[in-house]
Amino acid sequence: MTRRKIVAGNWKMNGSVESVVELVESIQANDAVEVVVAPSYVYLPLVAQSLTGSKVMVAAQNVSEFAKGAFTGEVSLSMLKDFSVSHVILGHSERRSLFAETDVQVARKVASTLEAGLTPILCVGETLEQREAGTTLTVCNSQVDAVLEEIGVELFEKVVIAYEPVWAIGTGKSASSEQAQEVHKGIRDNIAKRSSKVAEKVAILYGGSVKASNSAELFAQADIDGALIGGASLDATEFNSIIESAK
Ligand code: G3P
Repeated sequence: MTRRKIVAGNWKMNGSVESVVELVESIQANDAVEVVVAPSYVYLPLVAQSLTGSKVMVAAQNVSEFAKGAFTGEVSLSMLKDFSVSHVILGHSERRSLFAETDVQVARKVASTLEAGLTPILCVGETLEQREAGTTLTVCNSQVDAVLEEIGVELFEKVVIAYEPVWAIGTGKSASSEQAQEVHKGIRDNIAKRSSKVAEKVAILYGGSVKASNSAELFAQADIDGALIGGASLDATEFNSIIESAK
């Protein structure tokens, strides 16, 4: 089956009023590719407004697991919906490692995101130590399984997975297309044990030092359905070339 490619930019904690507007205005979307950008929370209204009439969609980089109330510093799903946010990046390795997010919390956030009608982008990936110990697929599949157990396989077809090997994030050292394809296939096969129909539908993006120079090769792999891009998504020329290579 042919899955539509998704190219998503995770801007992390970068940008200013001036730079985010300039960046969104330079994005060249096309009908063949779904394009998503994830600014910092404070720029979501501005970015959403600048994208009015555009096909480019807006993602948050996280969301609270709580609906509302006395949770200082948190942002809820209903607040995101107020600003036309359509996707939420969840379980990014930076949140797992720097903010101690657990599989259980990530799974709950995926469930509430789906319930709110938004699309979760579920990040999974192994550290260098885990890769060297030969446990890459065990790690990635256990992160995926935690979500499958929380929401069930049928709903999982609405989840977008981003496989992001921790050792490739922001290091300039991308996984090779063969390494990435092997893990993407392993993740899809694991989902297929519960439902082959859902496994075929789920989009699995690759993330970790994706650039215009390696995106086409990654996108040519059978189980790579797009990319979640950090650094290169802050550069309009690079990001547009990556979008172009996903056509
Ligand atoms: O979420 C995207 C990411 O972690 C990859 O970052 O800078 O290696 O493209 P980067």
